[in-house]
Amino acid sequence: MGGFHAVAYGKTSRNREEKMNILVLNGSPKGENSNTFKMTQAFIDGVTATQNLSIDTITVSQKNIEPCRGCFCCWEKTPGKCIIADDMGGILDKYIQADLVIWSFPLYYYSVPGILKNLIDRLLPLSMPFMRERPDGLGSGSHPPRYDLTGKRYVILSTCGFYSAEGNYDGVRNLFDHIYGKNNYTSIFCGQGELFRVPELRQQTDEYLKLVTQAGSEFIQVGIKEETETALQDLLFPKETFEEMADASWNINDTGEDEGLRFTRQMAALYHAVDDKERVLEMYYTDTGKTYQIIMTDKGHTVLTDNFHPFTTRIETPLSVWQDISKGKISGQDALMQHKYRVHGDFNLMLHWDDYFGGGPARGKSIRQNKPEKRSLLFCIVPFMVFWTVINLLPEFGAYIAIIVAASVPLFSHSFALTRYDTISSFSVIALSIATLFLPLHLVLAVSYGIFAALWLVSSLCTKMPLSAWYVAKNYGNEAVYDNPLFIRTNKIIDIGWGIIYAVCCLLMATGFYMYAILVNTVGTTAMGIFTIWFQKWYPAYYARKIN
Ligand SMILES: Cc1cc2nc3c(=O)[nH]c(=O)nc-3n(C[C@H](O)[C@H](O)[C@H](O)COP(=O)(O)O)c2cc1C
Repeated sequence: MGGFHAVAYGKTSRNREEKMNILVLNGSPKGENSNTFKMTQAFIDGVTATQNLSIDTITVSQKNIEPCRGCFCCWEKTPGKCIIADDMGGILDKYIQADLVIWSFPLYYYSVPGILKNLIDRLLPLSMPFMRERPDGLGSGSHPPRYDLTGKRYVILSTCGFYSAEGNYDGVRNLFDHIYGKNNYTSIFCGQGELFRVPELRQQTDEYLKLVTQAGSEFIQVGIKEETETALQDLLFPKETFEEMADASWNINDTGEDEGLRFTRQMAALYHAVDDKERVLEMYYTDTGKTYQIIMTDKGHTVLTDNFHPFTTRIETPLSVWQDISKGKISGQDALMQHKYRVHGDFNLMLHWDDYFGGGPARGKSIRQNKPEKRSLLFCIVPFMVFWTVINLLPEFGAYIAIIVAASVPLFSHSFALTRYDTISSFSVIALSIATLFLPLHLVLAVSYGIFAALWLVSSLCTKMPLSAWYVAKNYGNEAVYDNPLFIRTNKIIDIGWGIIYAVCCLLMATGFYMYAILVNTVGTTAMGIFTIWFQKWYPAYYARKIN
C-alpha cells in the first residue's frame, strides 16, 4: 500500500552510523530447499564479499503469520500496531530497521506465493491512512509511510518455472512498482528455476549463480552493470532443450512409456551437436532389459525404441545407476570407477560427454562463458630439451642459450597460464646451466635427468593431479576432468612411465654410461611418446568395458 515515498511521520529512523542490516524474506513454501533461495544466497555472497553486514533471514513458511483481518485497527485504535499477536510484529520491526530488504520467492500464478501476499498485506501498519497523490502518477493515489524509510534499498529475486522470465512478471512488477515506486528497487527474475535443484546441471546453474554473485557485488558498490543485467537475462538452456527436458522429467506421462524411455528422452533433450558427424548412443538398461538409441546428428537427435542402427557407443547399466547419477547421489566418473556401468565401442563420446549433453549454449552472447585456461606442456619440457641438446653440442656457449630459453618462459604468461611445473622447469634449467660452468658436465646432466624424473614421479605419486593432467584437460572440453578419477589414474600411469625413463637416464649418466643415457633419452622417449598416445585412449576404454 503506502510506503512509496519516504516522509518522516513521528517515529525516528534508525541510527545510520550502525552496521548495515539486511533483511532477507524467503517467501518460498519450500524454505531452505527453494530454487530461488539458491539465487538469493549467491546474491548475498556478492553483497557480503565487499562489506561486513548483518544478515537476518526469515523463512516465511516457518513463521506464524495470519492473514490481515481488514479491521484497520493498525490505523485507528492501535496506530502502527496490528492487533493480531503473531510473528508479524517482530518481522515489521526488522523491516523498519533494515537498510536493505531482499525479497526471495518463486512466481506463483504470475504473482507472489500466498504466504508472502499475507505478509505483504500485514505491512499495512507501516502506512498512515491518509490519501495522497503519488508523484509518479501510478494508480490513483497512495498512503504516506508512518516511518522514515529514506535510504532503504529493496531487491526482488525470483525464479519461475517457464523457460523465460520474460512476460511472466508483469503482475509482480506492478505490485512492487506500487509498493516501492518504479525504479526504486532492483530485481532479478530467472526462468527455468527448477533446474537449480538438478545436480547434473550444476555446471550451467553454477555459472548463472556466479553471475548473480557478481550482480550482488556490483549492486552494493555501484549498482548492477548493464552487461551483467543483460547476461542475467540469458536463458540457462535454449527454449526447446529446456521444455523437452522439463516435459520428460515428470514421473507421469500420458503415453504410457516406460521409465527407461522417459529417462533416455530427458537425456537426449540435453543433446547439443558439436560437429557434423553422426553418432549412435545405445543405452541398455540391464535391470529392465530394455534398449534405446539416441541418434545424434548435426540437425538434432532422435530416440529409437526399435529398428536400431549399428551403435557408435553402447552403455550397459541398470537404470537405477543412471537415476542415482542424475540425482547427484554418485558422479558418473565414480560410477565408472566402481564398474557400475560398461561401455562398448567408441569411448571418445564418454570423454566428451559434457560437450554433447551439456545442453548447448544458452541464448545470446553471455559474459558467463568462462574460457578454459590456456596451458602448454612445451613450457615444462622445452627448457630441458634445449639444455640437453645444446649443452652437449656447445659445452660453454650452450649454457647461455639454455639460460635464455628458460628465462623467456615467463614472457608467455600474458597469453598462457603457466603451471608450477613450468616455473620449476625454467628455474632448474637456469641453475643447471650455470652449474655446467663450474661442475663436471656428466654430473650436472645426471642431476638434470634426476630433477626431470622427479617432476613426473613426485607429481604422480605424491600429488592429487599428475603433471600431464595439468596440460591435457583442455582436450577433454573443460576442467571438470580434474575431478575425473579415471582421467587422473590414466595420467598417473603415463607420468610414472615418463618418470622411470628419465630416472634410468639419470642412473646411466651417474654411473658413466653416457651414450646409453643419451640413447634412452632419444629412443626410449620416442617409444614412450607412442605408448602415451595409444594408452590414453586405450586404458579408459578398457576400464569401461569391465564390470563387477
Ligand atoms: C502453485 C504454483 C504456481 C506456479 N505458477 C507459476 C507461474 O505462474 N509461472 C511460472 O513460470 N512458474 C510457476 N510456477 C513454478 C515455480 O515458480 C518454479 O517452480 C520456481 O522455480 C519454484 O521456486 P522455489 O523453489 O524457490 O519455490 C508455479 C509453481 C507452483 C507450485
